[in-house]
Amino acid sequence: IHYNAARFLISADKLSQCPEDSGAEVAFAGRSNAGKSSAINALTNNGKLARTSKTPGRTQLINFFDLNIEGLRLVDLPGYGYAKVPVAMKEHWQKHLDQYLQQRYSLKGVVLVMDIRHPMKEFDLMMIEWCKSTHVPLHVLLTKADKLKRGPAQSIVLTLRKELTQILGDKVSVQSFSSLKRAGVDTLSARLDEWLSQ
Ligand code: GTP
Ligand code: MG
Repeated sequence: IHYNAARFLISADKLSQCPEDSGAEVAFAGRSNAGKSSAINALTNNGKLARTSKTPGRTQLINFFDLNIEGLRLVDLPGYGYAKVPVAMKEHWQKHLDQYLQQRYSLKGVVLVMDIRHPMKEFDLMMIEWCKSTHVPLHVLLTKADKLKRGPAQSIVLTLRKELTQILGDKVSVQSFSSLKRAGVDTLSARLDEWLSQ
């Protein structure tokens, strides 16, 4: 799979607007501002593909990207937990995100993006529980690793890998990542290759 050939497909604000539920896709989930869109841009080596922002809550629709093989997609999910979004809007996203996760047959795996300095917040725990109950495999991307020294970053990876393996067994993998340095891209693409080529 050539991730650098990814192209924007469609933005959906509810399940009915999503592309046909066939083929295979991988969704990037995580708290607002965690670095989901940046990770997609690093993976695809295309800084302009997914919109990133210093303002949390930038991605407010489910954005789909086509890959170079027909029927394969990447999905950029809206961030959870942005305090300044009005309650009604939050509930709207929560509902549609929930529906997407529950009903999307072509969803083959979730990449949970967490800031390596602030992992395992309430939303992250929810996603982990959700993966446990649905058996959808999880890949944890501990991003912004460029903000830490190598030693401390690696020790967080090892601790979380152990903790998550106890919950999800071989359905989970954990890596450090930096969109800024494009570090960890090969590990990420290898995992996605596995999921998307099943
Ligand atoms: P929402 O769409 O609002 O949910 O956010 P997001 O998770 O898509 O985050 P986004 O990719 O827009 O990044 C948020 C901020 O973090 C931006 O200012 C990015 O430049 C910064 N950022 C993302 N990844 C990294 C990284 O690996 N290293 C550093 N240093 N900064 C990063
Ligand atoms: Mg985003």
